Amino acid sequence: MSSSSSSLLSQTLKIGIVGFGTFGQFLAKTLIKQGHTITATSRTDYSQLCDQLGIWFSRDVLAFMEADNDVILICTSILSLSEVLKSMPLLSLKRQTLFVDVLSVKEHPRNVLLQVLPQEMDLLCTHPMFGPESGKNGWKDLAFMYDKVRVRDEATCSSFLHIFESEGCRMMEMSCEEHDKLAARSQFLSHAVGRILSEMGTETTSINTKSFETLVRLKESTTKDSFDLFSGLFIHNRFAQQELMNLEHSFQMVKQKLLKTMNEEQNPSKSNHGLDAS
Ligand SMILES: NC(=O)c1ccc[n+]([C@@H]2O[C@H](COP(=O)([O-])OP(=O)(O)OC[C@H]3O[C@@H](n4cnc5c(N)ncnc54)[C@H](OP(=O)(O)O)[C@@H]3O)[C@@H](O)[C@H]2O)c1
Repeated sequence: MSSSSSSLLSQTLKIGIVGFGTFGQFLAKTLIKQGHTITATSRTDYSQLCDQLGIWFSRDVLAFMEADNDVILICTSILSLSEVLKSMPLLSLKRQTLFVDVLSVKEHPRNVLLQVLPQEMDLLCTHPMFGPESGKNGWKDLAFMYDKVRVRDEATCSSFLHIFESEGCRMMEMSCEEHDKLAARSQFLSHAVGRILSEMGTETTSINTKSFETLVRLKESTTKDSFDLFSGLFIHNRFAQQELMNLEHSFQMVKQKLLKTMNEEQNPSKSNHGLDAS
């Protein structure tokens, strides 16, 4: 990219964050570092924290909507999206605004936002494939998925995407559907396995192998996210249910193979006689 186009892309933006929980706060720190002007609204009162960060905050969504934002960045939980949008007087917006969501599922917010947003509003659906833990030492080489669902103001959209480009993210443009297929097979699966390990009470031992340490880390990182987030990955990704069934089926297959081998080992004379191993 030439330096002139790069400086064009890096114009500062007025960004209003809706949902100032863990992930909203995490993103805000980098947005502030880059010089963008941030306002925020949330169900919980974050005014003290926002004062420290230099962010204008109001729990009153009407007052928030009156701020003249270029971008409204939706960082609420997947499960609360529809309820939060219902509370926003979207029709009262006076100027064309770019709506961006960062939810970890993509077809659901795309469909809901296309339904409720006025026609003049642009929509960029995104999923930063990292969080406060994996992104704590910077975002270099971490994947950033996006789908320009309805973008007419290319300049504002490019400036927003530049936030992530300039931090060194791997920019992955793909459809919301493609994202949800891949994310069910990767992110949902890893969260499901992490939650299963947590149910089992998996803890570090004095003789950990490297692979076991990977499992302990998986349990720890996935259970740091809220249960709302995990259930959102399941309920609002239409591909996740199949992955859960695959996981269950594969577990049964492995179990049967083990029991069959054990039977053969313990009863060599009866092996290959079709014993039910389940
Ligand atoms: N954590 C990550 O690593 C990560 C990475 C990529 C994308 N994301 C996405 O970012 C979003 C936020 O994630 P998160 O980690 O902060 O945790 P989360 O539990 O998914 O969402 C917490 C946010 O949702 C709001 N919220 C929850 N229930 C609400 C309700 N009934 N009404 C109004 N607001 C409600 C919370 O507001 P209050 O705080 O005001 O209560 C908070 O801002 C999610 O959509 C998630 O999928 C997260």
